[in-house]
Amino acid sequence: MNQSKPDIVKIRNLSKSYRRGSQIIPVLEDITFDIPDGEFLALMGPSGSGKSTLLNLLAGIDSADSGSILINGVEITTLAETELARWRSLHVGFIFQFYNLIPVLTAFENVELPLLLTRLSRKERRVHVETALRVVGLADRMDHYPSQLSGGQQQRVAIARAVVTDPTILVADEPTGDLDRYSAGEILDLIDRLNRESGKTIIMVTHDPRAAEKAHVIRYLEKGELSDASQ
Ligand SMILES: Nc1ncnc2c1ncn2[C@@H]1O[C@H](COP(=O)(O)OP(=O)(O)OP(=O)(O)O)[C@@H](O)[C@H]1O
Ligand SMILES: [Mg+2]
Repeated sequence: MNQSKPDIVKIRNLSKSYRRGSQIIPVLEDITFDIPDGEFLALMGPSGSGKSTLLNLLAGIDSADSGSILINGVEITTLAETELARWRSLHVGFIFQFYNLIPVLTAFENVELPLLLTRLSRKERRVHVETALRVVGLADRMDHYPSQLSGGQQQRVAIARAVVTDPTILVADEPTGDLDRYSAGEILDLIDRLNRESGKTIIMVTHDPRAAEKAHVIRYLEKGELSDASQ
């Protein structure tokens, strides 16, 4: 039997709805689940089922209506805005579908950005940024701007930016959704390697069965409820 790992994410009775005018749109309804440390979880489900909403709640980008989100012992739903922003910058690496790099900054500067919120010296920051860019295979592109990089390379810079702070959880919202098959494969291999070699806990939303195959566990979100895809 596998030795069970401690849960790094504990979600209890999480609910979220959006309001549009007088209309209330329930998105997540009383969701409860745990994610063990070092897990690679794929989150699937139809468009509009609330996958991004759930990811944003986990990452402290959006706030829930009710319920609890405990991440590595920290109850993030009760943190004040500035505390939450600080917590997020240290503990969450976010990978977006459209990379979200800052166009006027070089690859190096984009990756350095989250470190500006830490106490690291300039010299220490340089070491971390260079290491992260080396991990994603872009050590020779540090001075390039996003527009001078391919989509796959931009996503690799975004991954370097997501891991440079050595976050507690890595969340990815359709990280291969905008890429051709070959680049998507490279990105998936990289994410898989971060999980296997660095033990990163990964929560990845995807529509792509090939991407989900890399994960250890697939959960399916539909009509506000979460289930195992295998059921
Ligand atoms: N800021 C918002 N205001 C109002 N409604 C919203 C907002 N964000 C999301 N929604 C609604 O919440 C529901 C879930 O959206 P969400 O983006 O989480 O879905 P998703 O599963 O990520 O879909 P996709 O696969 O298309 O990315 C949708 O009905 C959407 O219209
Ligand atoms: Mg989405």
